[in-house]
Amino acid sequence: MKTILKPNRAAVVTFFAVALNLTASAAGSAPVPPSASLGLAQTNGGAMNLSISNAGDQSWIIQSSSDLTSWAEVENLRVYNGSYHRNYTNTASGSWFYRAYYDAARQTNASTTTEALRLPATAFNYAAPVLPPSFAVNPILAEDNTPANNATTDLGATLGRVLFYDQRLSTNQTISCASCHQQTHAFSDPRRFSVGFNGSNGPRHAMGLSNARWYQRQHFFWDERAATLEEQTLHPIQNPIEMGMTLDALTLRLAAEPFYTNLFAAAFGSPDVTTNRIALALAQFVRSMVSTQSKYDAGVANNFTNFTAQENLGRQLFFGQTGNPPPPCAICHGTDNFVPTTTLNNNGLEFPYVDPGVGGITGLLAQNGLFKVPSLRNIALTAPYMHDGRFTNLAQVVEFYNSGIVDNPNLSPPLRVPTPPGQPPGPPLRLNLTADQKAALVAFLNTLTDTNLVTDPKLSDPFNYGN
Ligand code: HEC
Ligand code: HEC
Repeated sequence: MKTILKPNRAAVVTFFAVALNLTASAAGSAPVPPSASLGLAQTNGGAMNLSISNAGDQSWIIQSSSDLTSWAEVENLRVYNGSYHRNYTNTASGSWFYRAYYDAARQTNASTTTEALRLPATAFNYAAPVLPPSFAVNPILAEDNTPANNATTDLGATLGRVLFYDQRLSTNQTISCASCHQQTHAFSDPRRFSVGFNGSNGPRHAMGLSNARWYQRQHFFWDERAATLEEQTLHPIQNPIEMGMTLDALTLRLAAEPFYTNLFAAAFGSPDVTTNRIALALAQFVRSMVSTQSKYDAGVANNFTNFTAQENLGRQLFFGQTGNPPPPCAICHGTDNFVPTTTLNNNGLEFPYVDPGVGGITGLLAQNGLFKVPSLRNIALTAPYMHDGRFTNLAQVVEFYNSGIVDNPNLSPPLRVPTPPGQPPGPPLRLNLTADQKAALVAFLNTLTDTNLVTDPKLSDPFNYGN
């Protein structure tokens, strides 16, 4: 690696034998364009990878030369959503050079839907995903939290998808929802604590978003402070750690993008960009993260003949059909979505409570240490675990439920040794699982993974990053 040029304050340019990485920083809500920063790289009849990071989404002119004196324009490209990658192949022999050149007078590239985004000609089907039979009847039917005024439409969720992946939603255009809710991790964050737009983090783990549509209690976040999914989506945008944006600034910024006015018009019938529409579209997209194609789902349909003996043992333990005592997992993580219907719970992680959870919002002592019971769908992909990400793997979670539940005044009854009516509550349950039983529970939890969700193009990043 050789540094040929020291960049000006606005750009960082590094040179490799076959790759050129150009980082143009842009701070604040009005990105400062880098002034005429040059990049240079050499390749001998081979391929060169160009990579531009530019939160300001400016246009760049790529030029090439064989003698560093005369330069020919290769293309004038625009960065969309912060980064651009392109492979150039040079068939001529000898040295060849490329540079990326910024020209304020040539910021002319369009920001149209076709230029900026890679959307299918006909919108993906979000409105009517194919669901297993158990989703069409109670209890799951009644768990659906889609409100009457925000039914998911194909074009509404398409807009939501673009918003979800767009770094413009953060004040310095560096963080999108997907920075912390990553598709490969079932829309959770592999980091214990997500990092926001200015590099700092909050005290909780970003949980996965699979099947949020079927959280009957509706309330979202670990402490359930957002009454609906529609309300929830506006929290991270304004959160001073996460995205640091104001809603007024956001609507102005989006309204200035031609492709957004098109997407809003398609979704809502007029091009107006409003806070309410942003919330509706984001909620539609989150409700489209439907996971129904796991090994477990196949098992429901064929009486679990597709399961190994170990997975079936784990299933019987999970549903309390065997064990001494039978594990109570399904009492809280119930139905084929592995969520409770109506209760808030404390699962005995700690006492005193480091994080008051729901009690911190309601002020009720009896709700200190209570947290949302998240769905266990795709749980193998959403490590680390619990509101504070304290467990790095599922074996640790199972060992916690086996031997580590901490007594506290708000510990939920299913996790206590039962006592006769009128008697004081029993001590925390100890499951006495053997090593084989613990491994079987983990094997069962692994059957809840749905690889379709993590690769589904309709849930993926729609921006045009060059190649
Ligand atoms: C900087 C990281 C970060 C960003 C950006 C972010 N989130 Fe989150 N998200 C989190 C964390 C952390 C939590 C859990 C916080 C809590 O419960 O207090 C969370 C929780 C959620 C939940 C609650 C899920 C549930 O089951 O209760 C939803 C839904 C969600 N985020 C959607 C979004 C959307 C939509 C965006 C973009 C507008 C977004 N997030 C941006 C980190 C982030
Ligand atoms: C009394 C209700 C209750 C029971 C019974 C219960 N859980 Fe939980 N579970 C919770 C709550 C509440 C949380 C979230 C706690 C937190 O983060 O503070 C949770 C979290 C989890 C998580 C982590 C989820 C995530 O996204 O980080 C896993 C995995 C889990 N439970 C598995 C199990 C298994 C396996 C069993 C049976 C051995 C079980 N649970 C029994 C209430 C329960």
